[in-house]
Amino acid sequence: MNPPAASSAASGPPPALAGAGNQISAPPAAEGKSDAAIIARGLTRRFGNVVAVDRVDLTVARAQVYGFLGPNGSGKSTTIRMLCGLLLPSAGDIEVLGYRIPEQAEALKRRIGYMTQKFSLYDDLTVIENLDFVAAVHELHRKQARQRIDELCTRYWLGDLRKQLAGTLSGGQKQRLALAAAVLHKPELLLLDEPTSAVDPQSRRDFWDSLFDLVDAGTTILVSTHYMDEAERCHRLAILDHGRLVADGSPQELKDALPGATLLIACAAPRRAQAALAGKDFVVAMAQIGEHLRVLTRANGDAQVQVSTVLKDVGIVATVEPAEPNLEDVFVAATNRTQREAAVESTR
Ligand SMILES: Nc1ncnc2c1ncn2[C@@H]1O[C@H](COP(=O)(O)OP(=O)(O)OP(=O)(O)O)[C@@H](O)[C@H]1O
Ligand SMILES: [Mg+2]
Repeated sequence: MNPPAASSAASGPPPALAGAGNQISAPPAAEGKSDAAIIARGLTRRFGNVVAVDRVDLTVARAQVYGFLGPNGSGKSTTIRMLCGLLLPSAGDIEVLGYRIPEQAEALKRRIGYMTQKFSLYDDLTVIENLDFVAAVHELHRKQARQRIDELCTRYWLGDLRKQLAGTLSGGQKQRLALAAAVLHKPELLLLDEPTSAVDPQSRRDFWDSLFDLVDAGTTILVSTHYMDEAERCHRLAILDHGRLVADGSPQELKDALPGATLLIACAAPRRAQAALAGKDFVVAMAQIGEHLRVLTRANGDAQVQVSTVLKDVGIVATVEPAEPNLEDVFVAATNRTQREAAVESTR
């Protein structure tokens, strides 16, 4: 086996830092020996002219939940499929649980569980038949399989659904079955691609509780999501945009590293306030939240004064207060930057 690739300490590389201007920049790959579950360096995948994943460096520490965020088409699923050994990278080095991927993907298979973005079990088999099939694929002995399946049916509230065809399950029930199937062989690493899309808030909470039970037992989890409340629950997060890693750190570190200010504007006409601030170079993004307008600004200058002045100039009476940054602000700042860069590049 090849020696492990250079990597950072088990706790992962340093957080994303505020870069030049309003950028949230990914940190350089730290060097040193580690027992990280996943180490990827320069990971790249091209589909014809499309660069789906662009020189991504990742370090995922063991027994943690590592979240993957990014707009549609940003390369999350493509990255996950390369890490599982299901898709060949165009360039880059991958080591998962000490195996070189794709060369040693076959040996890795038994030690990972992968939940695909789209339900990929058999609609025309019952819950139990699907789990029996997965147990057979993993070559579990009959008695051992029966015991494990009973245990999983209890843990994931599938007991009453045992004889129901998978195709007739609700969205949340399907997700629970898919998770049971993914963990049936007790993998050390779980890769979950949007496991809770279309799942109600209480079921998502239950699902996440079950993920933390697995982490407690030593499992490493890499999970992609579009939900900010789920991102908030991860030990560490990566944000991808146009295939590039644009932020990497713990939720708190990423919020602390946000270069601009977050302001909350209260006024009688938030839509007019938004129109007045649109296009100003110190404004990164705006969103109306109920009666308030939430504005993310660039780092330079006194944003509070700049915003107040613009509103006053157009005759809008408003209070402008600083607000605590949240992960949505981090997401918008990180992904807006690449949009601006793309716009600049396209004008060249
Ligand atoms: N097999 C393929 N052939 C051609 N292009 C592909 C293929 N798979 C993915 N892509 C392209 O690669 C890019 C990244 O896709 P990917 O599915 O990884 O995004 P994603 O971040 O998972 O998005 P979503 O949030 O919508 O699931 C997209 O532009 C997509 O069209
Ligand atoms: Mg995807």
